[in-house]
Amino acid sequence: MTPAELDLRQFAVLGLVQEASQLALDYFNKRDSLGITMKGAQDWLTVADGAVEEFLRERLAVLFPDDAVIGEEGGGEAADAVWIIDPIDGTSNFARGDRNWCVSIGLLLNGVPEIGIISAPALEEVYIARRGQGATMNGEPIKVSGATDIGRAYIELGWSTRIANETYLAMVGRGLGVGASVKRGGSGALGICHVANGRTEAYAELHINAWDVAAGLVIASEAGADVNDFFSGEGIAEGNPVLCCTPGLTRELEQITGIISRHKTN
Ligand code: IPD
Repeated sequence: MTPAELDLRQFAVLGLVQEASQLALDYFNKRDSLGITMKGAQDWLTVADGAVEEFLRERLAVLFPDDAVIGEEGGGEAADAVWIIDPIDGTSNFARGDRNWCVSIGLLLNGVPEIGIISAPALEEVYIARRGQGATMNGEPIKVSGATDIGRAYIELGWSTRIANETYLAMVGRGLGVGASVKRGGSGALGICHVANGRTEAYAELHINAWDVAAGLVIASEAGADVNDFFSGEGIAEGNPVLCCTPGLTRELEQITGIISRHKTN
């Protein structure tokens, strides 16, 4: 794909994400009347998830009919050029009225993340990155914190029922044991953005799906984070562990999480 074709995709899809964000925000503002169901234990689904994904799929099919699409709700198959969509990441927050949720879309070319756009409309934050061109939040360049002292670090360790509680708690214990402050915010995509803009030093999760990280990993990598090789193996179809962190703490985070994170996507 030529740089001009990528430019076109970046700007067109940013427009789509802005429309999708308004749609999601409209649902958020009337969430008390929304249908909310559970896909599984602690796995939330609202009508907004389906509606936002359908909107993005319909528009992408018109604009870029040869590009493939994978979405959290509708699935899909990988291809040389594939958009990976999480219509609402942080659905449990969304359903409860917590503003920490976002619309996330990333473009992978031949398995390499190229474009990442994450919009958190209830927080009025938009993150954009393109491989090799840096990362921004609301148009301003962002970078990782640069911290080097784990004893002052704030790290986010994502949780889902896909990992046994004792395994998760052991990781949290190792983080606390070396003096880090540990949090969980309920949106993997925004958790990764928070590494990119220095609000936290690391985001890690022992299993997460491609739609939760496809956009965020370009954003974090372009902001200077070390990230793991998430898209290796069956990462797109089945998910993988994820780790991204400010480079001065990579070794400590590898020890806390057991995830190797030397690889940058750029
Ligand atoms: C979840 C969130 C959560 C992460 C889970 C994801 P969803 O995605 O990103 O923070 O820990 O692994 O499944 O269900 O809100 O789109």
